[in-house]
Amino acid sequence: MTTSPPAALQEADTEANRQLATLDGWRRFVAGAPAAPVLLSPDDLKRLSSAERDLYDDDRLDHHARMLTVATSFVERTVICGRRLVLLNRHAISARRGLMVSGLPGTGKTSAISQLGRSHELLDRARHPKVSGRIPVLYITVPPAATARMVAAEFARFLGLPVRHRSNMTDIIEAVVGVCTDTRTGLVLVDEVHNISQVTRAGAEVSDTLKYFSERIPATFVYAGIGLETSELLAGTRGAQISGRFTLVPTRPFPYGDEWKGLIATLEKTILLHNHPQGSLVKLDRHLHKRTGGMIGALSHAIRGAAIDAILNGTERVTKSGIDAISLDHAAEVSAPFHAKASTC
Ligand SMILES: Nc1ncnc2c1ncn2[C@@H]1O[C@H](COP(=O)(O)OP(=O)(O)OP(=O)(O)O)[C@@H](O)[C@H]1O
Ligand SMILES: [Mg+2]
Repeated sequence: MTTSPPAALQEADTEANRQLATLDGWRRFVAGAPAAPVLLSPDDLKRLSSAERDLYDDDRLDHHARMLTVATSFVERTVICGRRLVLLNRHAISARRGLMVSGLPGTGKTSAISQLGRSHELLDRARHPKVSGRIPVLYITVPPAATARMVAAEFARFLGLPVRHRSNMTDIIEAVVGVCTDTRTGLVLVDEVHNISQVTRAGAEVSDTLKYFSERIPATFVYAGIGLETSELLAGTRGAQISGRFTLVPTRPFPYGDEWKGLIATLEKTILLHNHPQGSLVKLDRHLHKRTGGMIGALSHAIRGAAIDAILNGTERVTKSGIDAISLDHAAEVSAPFHAKASTC
Protein backbone atom coordinates (compact mmCIF):
# COMPACT_ATOMS: atom_id res chain seq x y z
CA MET A 1 0.00 0.00 0.00
CA THR A 2 1.32 3.44 -0.86
CA THR A 3 -0.23 6.34 0.95
CA SER A 4 0.67 9.96 0.35
CA PRO A 5 3.49 10.73 2.75
CA PRO A 6 5.57 12.57 0.14
CA ALA A 7 3.03 15.38 -0.13
CA ALA A 8 2.61 15.45 3.63
CA LEU A 9 6.37 15.49 4.11
CA GLN A 10 6.86 18.25 1.57
CA GLU A 11 4.25 20.28 3.41
CA ALA A 12 5.94 19.63 6.76
CA ASP A 13 9.33 20.68 5.34
CA THR A 14 7.92 23.89 3.87
CA GLU A 15 6.00 24.58 7.05
CA ALA A 16 9.19 24.13 9.10
CA ASN A 17 11.02 26.65 6.89
CA ARG A 18 8.17 29.11 7.25
CA GLN A 19 8.25 28.78 11.02
CA LEU A 20 11.87 29.89 11.14
CA ALA A 21 10.76 33.34 10.00
CA THR A 22 9.22 34.34 13.33
CA LEU A 23 11.07 34.80 16.59
CA ASP A 24 8.91 32.17 18.36
CA GLY A 25 9.40 29.63 15.59
CA TRP A 26 13.11 30.36 15.45
CA ARG A 27 13.48 29.86 19.19
CA ARG A 28 11.59 26.57 18.98
CA PHE A 29 14.01 25.45 16.29
CA VAL A 30 17.02 26.50 18.38
CA ALA A 31 15.60 24.58 21.36
CA GLY A 32 15.87 21.44 19.20
CA ALA A 33 13.48 18.64 18.31
CA PRO A 34 11.78 16.75 21.15
CA ALA A 35 13.50 13.52 22.20
CA ALA A 36 12.89 10.63 19.80
CA PRO A 37 10.36 8.04 21.01
CA VAL A 38 11.82 4.82 22.42
CA LEU A 39 11.37 1.72 20.26
CA LEU A 40 9.47 -0.80 22.39
CA SER A 41 10.45 -4.44 22.74
CA PRO A 42 8.15 -6.98 20.99
CA ASP A 43 6.65 -7.95 24.38
CA ASP A 44 5.96 -4.36 25.41
CA LEU A 45 4.46 -3.74 21.99
CA LYS A 46 2.02 -6.64 22.42
CA ARG A 47 0.89 -5.26 25.77
CA LEU A 48 -0.29 -1.92 24.26
CA SER A 49 -4.03 -1.38 24.00
CA SER A 50 -5.21 -0.34 20.55
CA ALA A 51 -5.50 3.31 21.65
CA GLU A 52 -1.99 3.18 23.11
CA ARG A 53 -0.69 1.59 19.94
CA ASP A 54 -2.23 4.41 17.86
CA LEU A 55 -0.50 7.00 20.02
CA TYR A 56 2.80 5.13 19.89
CA ASP A 57 2.61 4.90 16.07
CA ASP A 58 1.63 8.53 15.84
CA ASP A 59 4.75 9.54 17.80
CA ARG A 60 6.89 7.46 15.46
CA LEU A 61 5.20 8.97 12.37
CA ASP A 62 5.94 12.41 13.77
CA HIS A 63 9.54 11.42 14.44
CA HIS A 64 10.03 10.34 10.82
CA ALA A 65 8.41 13.51 9.59
CA ARG A 66 11.12 15.48 11.42
CA MET A 67 14.37 13.56 11.51
CA LEU A 68 17.63 15.20 12.34
CA THR A 69 20.00 17.47 10.44
CA VAL A 70 23.21 15.62 9.66
CA ALA A 71 26.48 17.52 10.08
CA THR A 72 27.50 17.04 6.45
CA SER A 73 30.72 18.60 5.14
CA PHE A 74 28.57 21.30 3.55
CA VAL A 75 26.87 22.14 6.87
CA GLU A 76 30.27 22.20 8.57
CA ARG A 77 31.79 24.43 5.87
CA THR A 78 28.86 26.86 6.14
CA VAL A 79 29.12 26.99 9.93
CA ILE A 80 32.91 27.50 9.88
CA CYS A 81 32.83 30.17 7.15
CA GLY A 82 29.96 31.97 8.86
CA ARG A 83 31.64 31.85 12.24
CA ARG A 84 34.88 33.20 10.80
CA LEU A 85 33.05 36.11 9.15
CA VAL A 86 31.20 36.94 12.37
CA LEU A 87 34.57 37.19 14.14
CA LEU A 88 36.20 39.22 11.36
CA ASN A 89 33.24 41.60 11.26
CA ARG A 90 33.13 42.09 15.00
CA HIS A 91 35.07 45.35 15.02
CA ALA A 92 34.23 46.52 11.51
CA ILE A 93 32.34 49.77 11.36
CA SER A 94 31.53 49.51 7.66
CA ALA A 95 31.92 47.19 4.65
CA ARG A 96 31.22 44.09 6.69
CA ARG A 97 31.65 40.94 4.68
CA GLY A 98 28.90 38.40 4.17
CA LEU A 99 28.30 34.80 3.21
CA MET A 100 26.42 33.58 0.19
CA VAL A 101 25.20 29.97 0.08
CA SER A 102 24.15 28.89 -3.37
CA GLY A 103 23.13 25.69 -5.13
CA LEU A 104 20.38 23.65 -6.68
CA PRO A 105 16.98 23.31 -4.97
CA GLY A 106 16.91 20.75 -2.18
CA THR A 107 20.67 20.62 -1.65
CA GLY A 108 20.40 21.75 1.97
CA LYS A 109 20.96 25.53 1.84
CA THR A 110 18.25 26.42 4.35
CA SER A 111 19.32 23.57 6.63
CA ALA A 112 22.95 24.74 6.55
CA ILE A 113 22.30 28.43 7.24
CA SER A 114 19.82 27.58 9.99
CA GLN A 115 22.46 25.37 11.64
CA LEU A 116 24.90 28.30 11.42
CA GLY A 117 22.25 30.50 13.04
CA ARG A 118 21.57 27.93 15.74
CA SER A 119 25.23 27.57 16.65
CA HIS A 120 25.62 31.36 16.75
CA GLU A 121 22.60 31.72 19.01
CA LEU A 122 23.69 28.93 21.38
CA LEU A 123 27.16 30.48 21.66
CA ASP A 124 25.62 33.88 22.35
CA ARG A 125 23.43 32.40 25.10
CA ALA A 126 26.41 30.64 26.64
CA ARG A 127 28.35 33.91 26.61
CA HIS A 128 25.52 35.92 28.15
CA PRO A 129 23.75 33.41 30.42
CA LYS A 130 22.08 35.97 32.63
CA VAL A 131 20.92 38.38 29.93
CA SER A 132 17.44 37.82 28.55
CA GLY A 133 15.88 39.58 25.60
CA ARG A 134 18.80 39.20 23.22
CA ILE A 135 17.92 38.32 19.62
CA PRO A 136 21.29 37.20 18.26
CA VAL A 137 19.88 35.81 14.99
CA LEU A 138 17.26 37.07 12.60
CA TYR A 139 15.92 34.86 9.76
CA ILE A 140 13.77 36.02 6.87
CA THR A 141 12.84 34.72 3.44
CA VAL A 142 12.48 36.98 0.43
CA PRO A 143 8.99 36.48 -1.00
CA PRO A 144 8.60 36.00 -4.77
CA ALA A 145 8.16 39.31 -6.61
CA ALA A 146 9.06 41.07 -3.38
CA THR A 147 8.98 44.82 -3.02
CA ALA A 148 11.33 46.67 -0.69
CA ARG A 149 8.45 47.26 1.71
CA MET A 150 7.59 43.54 1.78
CA VAL A 151 11.18 42.69 2.71
CA ALA A 152 11.33 45.37 5.40
CA ALA A 153 8.01 43.98 6.69
CA GLU A 154 9.57 40.46 6.86
CA PHE A 155 12.26 41.82 9.19
CA ALA A 156 9.56 43.44 11.31
CA ARG A 157 7.45 40.29 11.30
CA PHE A 158 10.33 38.19 12.62
CA LEU A 159 10.78 40.62 15.48
CA GLY A 160 7.04 40.77 16.17
CA LEU A 161 6.88 44.47 15.34
CA PRO A 162 3.51 45.65 14.03
CA VAL A 163 3.47 46.87 10.44
CA ARG A 164 0.49 49.11 9.99
CA HIS A 165 -1.03 49.97 6.67
CA ARG A 166 0.05 53.56 7.09
CA SER A 167 3.58 52.82 8.35
CA ASN A 168 6.05 54.10 5.79
CA MET A 169 9.36 52.45 4.95
CA THR A 170 11.36 54.77 7.19
CA ASP A 171 9.13 53.88 10.18
CA ILE A 172 9.58 50.17 9.56
CA ILE A 173 13.33 50.38 8.95
CA GLU A 174 13.97 52.56 12.01
CA ALA A 175 11.93 50.24 14.24
CA VAL A 176 13.79 47.15 12.95
CA VAL A 177 17.24 48.75 13.24
CA GLY A 178 16.41 49.99 16.75
CA VAL A 179 15.33 46.53 17.99
CA CYS A 180 18.24 44.73 16.29
CA THR A 181 20.75 47.13 17.79
CA ASP A 182 19.21 46.93 21.28
CA THR A 183 18.94 43.14 21.21
CA ARG A 184 22.46 42.68 19.78
CA THR A 185 21.54 40.91 16.57
CA GLY A 186 24.82 39.57 15.19
CA LEU A 187 23.66 37.37 12.33
CA VAL A 188 20.98 38.06 9.74
CA LEU A 189 19.97 35.10 7.56
CA VAL A 190 18.22 36.04 4.32
CA ASP A 191 16.85 33.00 2.49
CA GLU A 192 15.48 32.69 -1.06
CA VAL A 193 17.50 35.65 -2.34
CA HIS A 194 17.21 34.32 -5.90
CA ASN A 195 13.85 36.11 -5.77
CA ILE A 196 15.78 39.39 -6.08
CA SER A 197 16.56 40.65 -9.56
CA GLN A 198 18.80 43.67 -9.96
CA VAL A 199 17.44 44.22 -13.45
CA THR A 200 13.95 45.19 -12.33
CA ARG A 201 13.25 48.38 -10.47
CA ALA A 202 11.45 46.60 -7.61
CA GLY A 203 14.31 44.08 -7.30
CA ALA A 204 16.96 46.80 -7.23
CA GLU A 205 15.01 48.52 -4.45
CA VAL A 206 14.90 45.28 -2.45
CA SER A 207 18.66 44.96 -2.89
CA ASP A 208 19.19 48.56 -1.75
CA THR A 209 16.99 47.95 1.29
CA LEU A 210 19.01 44.90 2.29
CA LYS A 211 22.22 46.86 1.80
CA TYR A 212 20.84 49.68 3.94
CA PHE A 213 19.89 47.21 6.69
CA SER A 214 23.37 45.71 6.51
CA GLU A 215 24.92 49.15 6.97
CA ARG A 216 22.70 50.06 9.91
CA ILE A 217 22.58 46.71 11.75
CA PRO A 218 26.02 45.69 13.05
CA ALA A 219 25.57 42.08 11.97
CA THR A 220 26.97 39.58 9.49
CA PHE A 221 24.55 38.97 6.63
CA VAL A 222 24.12 35.52 5.11
CA TYR A 223 22.29 35.07 1.81
CA ALA A 224 20.99 31.72 0.56
CA GLY A 225 19.36 30.97 -2.77
CA ILE A 226 19.30 28.94 -5.95
CA GLY A 227 22.04 29.38 -8.58
CA LEU A 228 23.16 32.73 -7.22
CA GLU A 229 26.44 32.76 -9.17
CA THR A 230 24.54 33.28 -12.41
CA SER A 231 21.43 34.94 -11.01
CA GLU A 232 20.22 38.48 -11.51
CA LEU A 233 21.07 39.16 -7.86
CA LEU A 234 24.67 39.62 -8.96
CA ALA A 235 23.89 41.64 -12.08
CA GLY A 236 25.06 45.23 -12.61
CA THR A 237 26.88 47.52 -10.22
CA ARG A 238 24.81 46.54 -7.20
CA GLY A 239 25.45 42.87 -7.97
CA ALA A 240 29.18 43.51 -8.39
CA GLN A 241 29.25 45.07 -4.94
CA ILE A 242 27.61 41.96 -3.44
CA SER A 243 30.08 39.71 -5.31
CA GLY A 244 32.93 41.76 -3.91
CA ARG A 245 31.77 41.48 -0.33
CA PHE A 246 30.24 38.03 -0.05
CA THR A 247 32.14 34.76 0.26
CA LEU A 248 30.49 31.99 -1.74
CA VAL A 249 29.79 28.52 -0.38
CA PRO A 250 28.32 26.42 -3.19
CA THR A 251 26.18 23.36 -2.48
CA ARG A 252 26.01 20.48 -4.86
CA PRO A 253 24.56 17.01 -5.03
CA PHE A 254 26.71 14.43 -3.22
CA PRO A 255 29.06 12.46 -5.42
CA TYR A 256 28.88 8.70 -4.88
CA GLY A 257 31.46 7.96 -2.20
CA ASP A 258 32.21 7.62 1.48
CA GLU A 259 30.32 10.72 2.61
CA TRP A 260 27.24 9.53 0.75
CA LYS A 261 27.44 6.13 2.45
CA GLY A 262 27.98 7.80 5.82
CA LEU A 263 24.95 10.00 5.24
CA ILE A 264 22.74 6.98 4.54
CA ALA A 265 24.11 5.19 7.61
CA THR A 266 23.35 8.21 9.81
CA LEU A 267 19.83 8.56 8.43
CA GLU A 268 19.24 4.82 8.77
CA LYS A 269 20.17 4.93 12.47
CA THR A 270 17.30 7.35 13.08
CA ILE A 271 14.70 4.94 11.68
CA LEU A 272 12.38 3.61 14.40
CA LEU A 273 10.78 0.48 12.92
CA HIS A 274 10.25 -2.95 14.44
CA ASN A 275 11.35 -5.10 11.56
CA HIS A 276 14.11 -3.06 9.94
CA PRO A 277 17.56 -4.71 9.90
CA GLN A 278 20.13 -1.93 10.44
CA GLY A 279 22.59 -1.75 7.56
CA SER A 280 20.13 -2.90 4.91
CA LEU A 281 19.74 0.66 3.58
CA VAL A 282 23.49 1.24 3.43
CA LYS A 283 23.66 -1.78 1.13
CA LEU A 284 21.39 0.14 -1.26
CA ASP A 285 23.80 3.08 -1.37
CA ARG A 286 24.46 2.94 -5.11
CA HIS A 287 20.79 2.49 -5.96
CA LEU A 288 19.83 5.37 -3.66
CA HIS A 289 22.42 7.57 -5.34
CA LYS A 290 21.04 6.79 -8.77
CA ARG A 291 17.48 7.26 -7.59
CA THR A 292 18.07 10.65 -5.93
CA GLY A 293 20.87 12.07 -8.09
CA GLY A 294 22.85 12.54 -4.86
CA MET A 295 20.38 15.15 -3.56
CA ILE A 296 20.16 15.13 0.23
CA GLY A 297 16.62 16.50 0.19
CA ALA A 298 15.41 13.69 -2.07
CA LEU A 299 17.30 11.07 -0.03
CA SER A 300 15.85 12.25 3.25
CA HIS A 301 12.42 12.45 1.64
CA ALA A 302 12.62 8.92 0.22
CA ILE A 303 13.84 7.35 3.47
CA ARG A 304 11.41 9.21 5.69
CA GLY A 305 8.54 8.60 3.28
CA ALA A 306 9.29 4.87 3.12
CA ALA A 307 9.58 4.69 6.92
CA ILE A 308 6.19 6.39 7.28
CA ASP A 309 4.69 3.96 4.75
CA ALA A 310 6.21 1.06 6.66
CA ILE A 311 4.39 2.13 9.84
CA LEU A 312 1.13 2.79 8.03
CA ASN A 313 1.11 -0.52 6.15
CA GLY A 314 2.51 -2.54 9.06
CA THR A 315 5.62 -3.94 7.29
CA GLU A 316 7.83 -2.03 9.76
CA ARG A 317 10.75 -2.19 7.37
CA VAL A 318 12.27 0.11 4.73
CA THR A 319 13.03 -1.84 1.57
CA LYS A 320 14.19 -1.05 -1.95
CA SER A 321 10.64 -1.40 -3.28
CA GLY A 322 9.33 0.75 -0.42
CA ILE A 323 11.81 3.48 -1.36
CA ASP A 324 11.03 3.17 -5.06
CA ALA A 325 7.32 3.60 -4.32
CA ILE A 326 8.01 7.10 -3.00
CA SER A 327 7.74 9.62 -5.78
CA LEU A 328 10.49 12.20 -5.54
CA ASP A 329 10.58 15.78 -6.68
CA HIS A 330 10.98 16.25 -10.39
CA ALA A 331 14.49 17.71 -10.08
CA ALA A 332 15.79 14.64 -8.26
CA GLU A 333 14.04 12.29 -10.70
CA VAL A 334 15.78 13.81 -13.71
CA SER A 335 19.05 15.03 -12.19
CA ALA A 336 22.41 13.46 -12.77
CA PRO A 337 25.27 14.27 -10.42
CA PHE A 338 27.18 17.33 -11.56
CA HIS A 339 30.27 18.98 -10.26
CA ALA A 340 30.15 22.57 -9.12
CA LYS A 341 33.31 24.50 -8.58
CA ALA A 342 35.05 23.91 -5.28
CA SER A 343 34.20 26.01 -2.27
CA THR A 344 36.05 29.28 -2.10
CA CYS A 345 35.92 29.17 1.67
N1 LIG B 1 22.26 18.24 6.63
C1 LIG B 1 21.09 17.62 6.44
N2 LIG B 1 20.76 16.54 7.18
C2 LIG B 1 19.59 15.89 7.00
N3 LIG B 1 18.66 16.27 6.10
C3 LIG B 1 18.93 17.34 5.34
C4 LIG B 1 20.15 18.08 5.47
N4 LIG B 1 20.13 19.09 4.58
C5 LIG B 1 18.97 18.98 3.94
N5 LIG B 1 18.25 17.94 4.38
C6 LIG B 1 16.93 17.49 3.91
O1 LIG B 1 16.71 18.02 2.65
C7 LIG B 1 15.52 18.81 2.62
C8 LIG B 1 15.81 20.05 1.81
O2 LIG B 1 16.76 20.82 2.51
P1 LIG B 1 16.74 22.39 2.50
O3 LIG B 1 15.35 22.91 2.63
O4 LIG B 1 17.76 22.85 3.46
O5 LIG B 1 17.26 22.62 1.00
P2 LIG B 1 17.36 23.95 0.18
O6 LIG B 1 18.62 23.85 -0.61
O7 LIG B 1 17.18 25.12 1.06
O8 LIG B 1 16.11 23.79 -0.80
P3 LIG B 1 15.33 24.96 -1.59
O9 LIG B 1 16.26 25.43 -2.66
O10 LIG B 1 14.12 24.26 -2.13
O11 LIG B 1 15.01 26.04 -0.60
C9 LIG B 1 15.21 19.11 4.08
O12 LIG B 1 13.84 19.19 4.30
C10 LIG B 1 15.80 17.94 4.81
O13 LIG B 1 14.85 16.93 4.83
MG1 LIG C 1 15.73 26.61 1.14
